[in-house]
Amino acid sequence: MEKLSILLVLLILFTSSLCCPEDQKQALLQFKASLINATASSKRLRVKFETWNFSSDCCNWDMVSCSSRFGARTVIALDLQYLVNMQFWDSTVLSSTILTPLFHIRSMIHLDLSLNKIQGELTVYLDMRSNGFNCFISSQLFHLRYLQHLDISSNSIHGILIGEVGSLSSLRVLSLDYNSLGGNISKEIGNMTKLLFLPKNSLSMEIPFHIGNLSNIKDLILRHNQLTGRMPSSIQKLTELETLDFENNLLTGEIPSVLFNIKGLKDITLNGNDLTWNKNAKIVPKCMLVGLSMNSCGISGEIPNWISTQKTLTFLDLGENQLEGIFSQWLAEMKVTTTILSGNNLTGFLPSLLFNSPCLSTLLLYQNNFYGELPDNIGNASQLGFPMLGRNDFSGKVPESICNNSNLMLLDLSNNKLSGQTLPDFRSNVLLEIIDLSSNEFSDIHDNKTTSELPDCLSQLSNLEILNLRKNSLQGSIPSSISNLRSLQILDLSSNYLVGEIPTKFWKSCWSIQGLSSDNLDLYTLLDLSMNQLFGEIPASLGTLKALKTLNISHNNIFGKVPTSLGDLVNIESLDLSHNKLWGSIPQSLAKLQQLTILDVSNNNLTGKIPIGGQMDTMNDPNFYANKSELCGMQIQVLCLEDLSPTNLPKDESKETWFKWEGVWIGYLVGFFVIVGSL
Ligand SMILES: *[C@@H]1O[C@H](CO)[C@@H](O)[C@H](O)[C@H]1NC(C)=O
Ligand SMILES: *[C@@H]1O[C@H](CO)[C@@H](O)[C@H](O)[C@H]1NC(C)=O
Ligand SMILES: *[C@@H]1O[C@H](CO)[C@@H](O)[C@H](O)[C@H]1NC(C)=O
Ligand SMILES: *[C@@H]1O[C@H](CO)[C@@H](O)[C@H](O)[C@H]1NC(C)=O
Ligand SMILES: *[C@@H]1O[C@H](CO)[C@@H](O)[C@H](O)[C@H]1NC(C)=O
Ligand SMILES: *[C@@H]1O[C@H](CO)[C@@H](O)[C@H](O)[C@H]1NC(C)=O
Ligand SMILES: *[C@@H]1O[C@H](CO)[C@@H](O)[C@H](O)[C@H]1NC(C)=O
Ligand SMILES: *[C@@H]1O[C@H](CO)[C@@H](O)[C@H](O)[C@H]1NC(C)=O
Ligand SMILES: *[C@@H]1O[C@H](CO)[C@@H](O)[C@H](O)[C@H]1NC(C)=O
Ligand SMILES: *[C@@H]1O[C@H](CO)[C@@H](O)[C@H](O)[C@H]1NC(C)=O
Ligand SMILES: *[C@@H]1O[C@H](CO)[C@@H](O)[C@H](O)[C@H]1NC(C)=O
Ligand SMILES: *[C@@H]1O[C@H](CO)[C@@H](O)[C@H](O)[C@H]1NC(C)=O
Repeated sequence: MEKLSILLVLLILFTSSLCCPEDQKQALLQFKASLINATASSKRLRVKFETWNFSSDCCNWDMVSCSSRFGARTVIALDLQYLVNMQFWDSTVLSSTILTPLFHIRSMIHLDLSLNKIQGELTVYLDMRSNGFNCFISSQLFHLRYLQHLDISSNSIHGILIGEVGSLSSLRVLSLDYNSLGGNISKEIGNMTKLLFLPKNSLSMEIPFHIGNLSNIKDLILRHNQLTGRMPSSIQKLTELETLDFENNLLTGEIPSVLFNIKGLKDITLNGNDLTWNKNAKIVPKCMLVGLSMNSCGISGEIPNWISTQKTLTFLDLGENQLEGIFSQWLAEMKVTTTILSGNNLTGFLPSLLFNSPCLSTLLLYQNNFYGELPDNIGNASQLGFPMLGRNDFSGKVPESICNNSNLMLLDLSNNKLSGQTLPDFRSNVLLEIIDLSSNEFSDIHDNKTTSELPDCLSQLSNLEILNLRKNSLQGSIPSSISNLRSLQILDLSSNYLVGEIPTKFWKSCWSIQGLSSDNLDLYTLLDLSMNQLFGEIPASLGTLKALKTLNISHNNIFGKVPTSLGDLVNIESLDLSHNKLWGSIPQSLAKLQQLTILDVSNNNLTGKIPIGGQMDTMNDPNFYANKSELCGMQIQVLCLEDLSPTNLPKDESKETWFKWEGVWIGYLVGFFVIVGSL
């Protein structure tokens, strides 16, 4: 009997220690009640919270996790994502006050309320990313002394908080990314020995010397703030540091060489500060970096030699600085995946060893003074996807081997002195999306075997979106097979020596291929064929390129009438037909073009009345009609004979019309000056 009662007592003790504490259960049920009420008893939520009832143990409820780490069994985590429908048409918004009961659960380590639409004045929780918070952080937050993970990024939280954060002594992850926090990092920060993550606020201050007290910190991320002054040497005391990110601050002075004594340091990002190397200090790094980013830091001199010791480096960004000297052999030998040295003053040949790296995927060297021929083995870098070598002084032919590289996605060789009678054969580069060979000295667009066909090298690039061959010496006609480039959106062949017609087949062929047709017609946004020697008429089929925003066929020998179908280019903003041999009238259909802001028909042989209505009424820059033979209209204040004809209009009325036009014209002028004056 006695045994049995002892057993019973034990059993009661045991079971009660397994259940969540009564006060925590009540808090959760209170939360549930106000949530269900707030969503007008949403069926989805009633189902979601079905397990939450008075008669069961809250540790068994869905979305609740318990642990006995604090002695008795207590709630430590709540996963409450997606409580409300995130679809834009559902306007349900939760008030932050419904969360209040949850703040009494002091044993909470992890609370995830992300992806909800909670608004209001608030407080205490973690992982509140992407809510609509617009509030000051209340000090209630700092009562959660077991809190390890605080993520309130991407809300609209203001305030000054850093000092109090020091009392969250268990905190390991603090993420305050994308809020509007300001103020100073106070001394108390030194109490927090765990992880800190605090980008994109507006902290304006010097980095405190006692930052060195954060001796356990692994990731120190303070990017997009207004930190000023020097990086303190106490930073070397952060012996556990792996990631240091001070991107886009106002730091100045020398980069402390002692930084590189931190053994575990893997990633350094200092982009967008104003820093220098200490030229006298010989850096002998103890760290083994994976990433080093110092873009736009104002650093000068040669690429520092100590980088050669960083055998694990895969990402190097020293772009937009004032670096001089050459691309050294040691750098070419390193197995870096991404090398960014663009916007410097580097010179010399590119070492061919660079392209024997099987890892190289991104190579940004544009805007330097590199010269010489591109190494023959450029295609040996089998992962290379983004070679951007524009705005240098490279010369000679583009090595055939560049096309061996099946990962090529973007090729920028623009603004060099590259030449050759044919373009490289890109047949196997099926991933290519952008080719920019503009401003070079290429001289042919065809191979010699076929005429008016694109060389095989270009015709099979079904992913090509941008083809820029502007300002070369290309000869021959535009191959009709260019219509095979069914992803093409931007085609710039201007300033070459192209002859022949704008091929009608070029456009029509799109219609014949089922399924592809409409894609192509909806994609083209820019077509520039200006400054060539094209002749023939404007193909009426041009009007089918519905997405076209810019069409420039100026400075050619194109004759004939302006096709009415150009009025179907519903998205066109700029239409330049100038410096050709067009005759006839400007079709009235152009008045349908509601986006039109530039229409240049000057230096043709056009006659008749300039269309009126819509945007056409605003096309009144006389230069765009200059050297017309017989154009007339209110836009250029030239009266049309047809309007004067006595059979059409009585004299008085024609006068009246003229005055109306005058009025409109003056109206525009007045309107213009009112707008300018009010700026
Ligand atoms: C339920 O919501 C209504 C408004 O929708 C409110 O007036 C009422 O006080 C709420 N009741 C509870 C118990 O929260
Ligand atoms: C309470 O929820 C449990 C499951 O957690 C269920 O088995 C039980 O039937 C529910 N009780 C009531 C009264 O709804
Ligand atoms: C920081 O630590 C000191 C000494 O341990 C203590 O006196 C102080 O209250 C702590 N500051 C905060 C904000 O917790
Ligand atoms: C930040 O600290 C500086 C001096 O250390 C002080 O002048 C300034 O008022 C402080 N700013 C705030 C917002 O506390
Ligand atoms: C923090 O560092 C400063 C200077 O390095 C030191 O004076 C102070 O005692 C340190 N505070 C703590 C809590 O370690
Ligand atoms: C770049 O280097 C050249 C010499 O190689 C020098 O003449 C030129 O002034 C430098 N330009 C800049 C912007 O430093
Ligand atoms: C290509 O690179 C490999 C090493 O990755 C090398 O053995 C080979 O000689 C290179 N080929 C050329 C043409 O440079
Ligand atoms: C390019 O590929 C061809 C055959 O596919 C091969 O003969 C040539 O050596 C390759 N060139 C380079 C530089 O790898
Ligand atoms: C193409 O033909 C022209 C003249 O017919 C010749 O000068 C040129 O070398 C040829 N180009 C190629 C790549 O065969
Ligand atoms: C059309 O091209 C010519 C020559 O390339 C250029 O001068 C002109 O500005 C371009 N027209 C428009 C409207 O951009
Ligand atoms: C311009 O057009 C008129 C007829 O509209 C024609 O007589 C004249 O020869 C044309 N001039 C040129 C240069 O084409
Ligand atoms: C008109 O033609 C003349 C002679 O061809 C030329 O000098 C002038 O620049 C042209 N005017 C405009 C606005 O194009």
